[in-house]
Amino acid sequence: MTLNNDFVDELKMRINIVDVIGRDVDLKKAGSGYKGLCPFHNEKTPSFSVNEKDQYFHCFGCHAKGDVITYVMKKQGLTFMEAVEKLADEYGIKMPERTGRREDFSRFYNINKMAARYFFHELTARPNMGLKYLRDRQVKDSTIAKFGLGYSSSSYEGLYEHLKSQGVSDEDMLRLGLVKQGKRGPYDKYRSRVMFPIFDTTGRVIGFGGRKINNDDRGPKYLNSSESEIFLKKNNLFGLNITKSDISRADQVLIVEGYMDMISLWQNGVTNVVASLGTALTENQVRLVTRFTKNVILSYDSDEAGIRAALRGIEVFDGSGANVRILQVTGGKDPDEYVKKYGGKAFQKLVQDALPAAEFRFKAMVRGRDLTDERQLLSYIRDIIPFMRKMDPLEQEIYIKKLHRDYGIGEMALQSQLRLPEDAGSPKYDRRREHINVIQKEPDDRKLRLELSLASLMMSNRRYINRAREDGITFETALGSRVVAETEKLAETWGDGRVITLDDICSRLDPDEESRVRKLIRPVGPEEEEYYLQCRAEYQLDKLDEKRAEYQHRIVDLEMGGSDEDKEEIEALARAVVEIDGEKNRIRGSLNA
Ligand code: CTP
Ligand code: MN
Repeated sequence: MTLNNDFVDELKMRINIVDVIGRDVDLKKAGSGYKGLCPFHNEKTPSFSVNEKDQYFHCFGCHAKGDVITYVMKKQGLTFMEAVEKLADEYGIKMPERTGRREDFSRFYNINKMAARYFFHELTARPNMGLKYLRDRQVKDSTIAKFGLGYSSSSYEGLYEHLKSQGVSDEDMLRLGLVKQGKRGPYDKYRSRVMFPIFDTTGRVIGFGGRKINNDDRGPKYLNSSESEIFLKKNNLFGLNITKSDISRADQVLIVEGYMDMISLWQNGVTNVVASLGTALTENQVRLVTRFTKNVILSYDSDEAGIRAALRGIEVFDGSGANVRILQVTGGKDPDEYVKKYGGKAFQKLVQDALPAAEFRFKAMVRGRDLTDERQLLSYIRDIIPFMRKMDPLEQEIYIKKLHRDYGIGEMALQSQLRLPEDAGSPKYDRRREHINVIQKEPDDRKLRLELSLASLMMSNRRYINRAREDGITFETALGSRVVAETEKLAETWGDGRVITLDDICSRLDPDEESRVRKLIRPVGPEEEEYYLQCRAEYQLDKLDEKRAEYQHRIVDLEMGGSDEDKEEIEALARAVVEIDGEKNRIRGSLNA
């Protein structure tokens, strides 16, 4: 069912996000919004904020953010529809009538079940290539039964005739991708393959993967069901129906790539495992698996493709609250080969030694870089800083020590670099392109906005032209300084006698300048002086931040040089940074007083 947007908007309008989140999180009023401990990651100091006005949440620590629906989806592991339904139900908001009868899919699950039974029978009733193949790969009969594995013979109509005899229509078989339409009627899609039925968590057969038996046969190695209403790869994980309780019990899940990896590990006693369905991990798969555990181990090949898959996987788990580690099977083997050769115990050892996501990412980022080269080392550090910021202080400490030990980078430099505001000094890292409309103010606009605020003060009261000058405020954006210059010019020509309006200024600007000014300028309230003091404080804080960032970059550069002569300068700079922080606090304090 598709929901119409009006209803979603109405729902969001009638529900207060503060209410909903307040049920899980102890929210404290802070400024114009609320703050609390983030429910999506572990923390001791609150970095989770809820904006009541615009109805969204945002965590500065783990970067989770979204609206009330996203929140419920994330927190309770629900799909969009489920979250909407739940909220509507809890708040007694009537869902719109479902338009059109919802199609009943149970028929399709039934047909798939018949097909799975047919394939299983084909595999187990008599000797055949499929059975030989599986036995050669050391798959036990009990495993075959547990997973309901099957065999499709070389026949073009075995399954087709069977299903037809059960009264299944050609149309349904085609729709499920069990047969293909040929010139002389439908024929079996899967031939001479070992069949892996794919179940959803409720145990219904939603599709199949068929592996060719002879690597020299034509066609792809694995032939999977085409996507349909009941088979959406992005929503499912292979094996989860069997392993979900083991995953909960172990409070840990191992995610591998291949069907055979999954089955082989399971057979060797590593039972908390699932396989992604041969695609890059999706957000829905993340949501699905994190319902059972938050401890995730990604096990991919150790080749370049595997590394990239792991990095992508880490990203998809970002913000899910999961603790992700990466296991790389050594020696160019996949988990299946490894566990067959060395056994489940040895594999569990690999699990124990799996690298935390951050460490893996840092290692991966070294690829293609020569860290004995200062410039490359510096760019490496700058790249990993944003990721280090996301760690808790303890982890940070450990990695700082590591970087110091491995590359001789000063611990103090790293410390101070980490304390910089997120967008200063390091490339902006936009991790989650969430579908919510949190409008990010561009940093440039921020500065311009401030300058325009001061300009509008100057327009409404000439006194502030001198005040700004006396306080050493300079205007740095092109447009801001333009507007101020025009204001000063008019003030000079008109003297005190005439009020300067925004229209007066705008009539002197280009059309696009005018539209930007009109968009960004804020009207001055009756409390001119208070408004000015706020602007001045904001200006001074910005200046101090700029200076602070500059000093800290200088510290990093000097520490990287590693020369003893620079020690003094580094210490002086570090002291200056501390002074700046003191100054910033003083300014903030004077505002609140
Ligand atoms: N896959 C697929 N279609 C392909 C190749 C791969 O859907 N043509 C998916 C399957 O789910 C497969 C997984 O990607 O299990 C991993 O592929 P690969 O590593 O190539 O195969 P293995 O799982 O190792 O299979 P096998 O051990 O049987 O060779
Ligand atoms: Mn394999």
